[in-house]
Amino acid sequence: MQRATFVVLVLCLSCGMAVARPLSQDSLHTSQAKTAPAGKAAKAAAATQAKKAQQPINAEPVAPEQPKWPNMKPSDSCKPFDPTAYQHPNVDSLCAKLNSMSDEQLLIMHGEAPLPSATGGFPLRGCTHRCLLGNSAAALVARQAQNNMGWAGKCFNWDFNTTTGVPTGLINMFGPNYDNSSLPDSQRIPASRRANADVYYIPQSRSDGKPAWRFDHGGAEKIWDPIRQMWLIVNGFNDEMREVRPGLLMGRIFIKAGPDSVEEVPIMFALMQACTADGTFPTTPEARATPLLGHV
Ligand SMILES: *[C@@H]1O[C@H](CO)[C@@H](O)[C@H](O)[C@H]1NC(C)=O
Ligand SMILES: *[C@@H]1O[C@H](CO)[C@@H](O)[C@H](O)[C@H]1NC(C)=O
Repeated sequence: MQRATFVVLVLCLSCGMAVARPLSQDSLHTSQAKTAPAGKAAKAAAATQAKKAQQPINAEPVAPEQPKWPNMKPSDSCKPFDPTAYQHPNVDSLCAKLNSMSDEQLLIMHGEAPLPSATGGFPLRGCTHRCLLGNSAAALVARQAQNNMGWAGKCFNWDFNTTTGVPTGLINMFGPNYDNSSLPDSQRIPASRRANADVYYIPQSRSDGKPAWRFDHGGAEKIWDPIRQMWLIVNGFNDEMREVRPGLLMGRIFIKAGPDSVEEVPIMFALMQACTADGTFPTTPEARATPLLGHV
């Protein structure tokens, strides 16, 4: 059992590594649909009206106009998650606060968060900061830098599902110094990017049957961990995310343990919006300037 927990822990932290389909850099930019000039638009609207008038009463409903979401480009204005709004000077301090809470309290926070809607978009853009949360034995082990492979948060891509407004994918960041709070931020934030996952809205979560966002590492291949000399089965991890505070997402982690069985991993995590020094969205780990991780 102990060993099983440990293996699961290690797996979770390397979720989705070594996948076959890396996110391309050009997917960081998305082309916006061009709006028709006013004259054309008016003509089109009139044509639609005329068509509507001819439609029989039982015709298919006309598709609603695409919803638009803010912050669809990396160069848009970025508002970082602000730990000082919660009386914490930096991310480390806020994570410590979350880790002073019991697992029950964290689960309640996740359960009481506002529910995502099917067309409401997604709150995070580009690269984020993270906390590893929970008080289970597995979570305590995971928080030790030597065990989490320097997992340093996630970067979301800039391709969006045009129905849900949710980015289609993410890539995890790994930096050996991320948890070393004796170092200045400039030495903690550099990280490599590996381990992709699909991102999407789900109407029914595993945790409570209500909507959430899922990070699906289902396409991942197993990887060799040279330190522990063992294979990590990373396929099958699903995170279920809710926005517990503006710009702060909290996730519960599930793993497909068999064809018909899914188990929750007793570790949670949080992601926070980070921004660049000039107030845009970070597209690389190093570009994360705010909020402060520890000290500069
Ligand atoms: C967008 O999301 C909806 C709802 O989850 C899904 O049905 C649809 O297949 C997605 N579209 C694309 C292009 O992935
Ligand atoms: C953190 O960084 C300091 C300064 O470089 C170093 O001495 C220490 O060994 C590091 N700690 C860990 C756990 O890597």
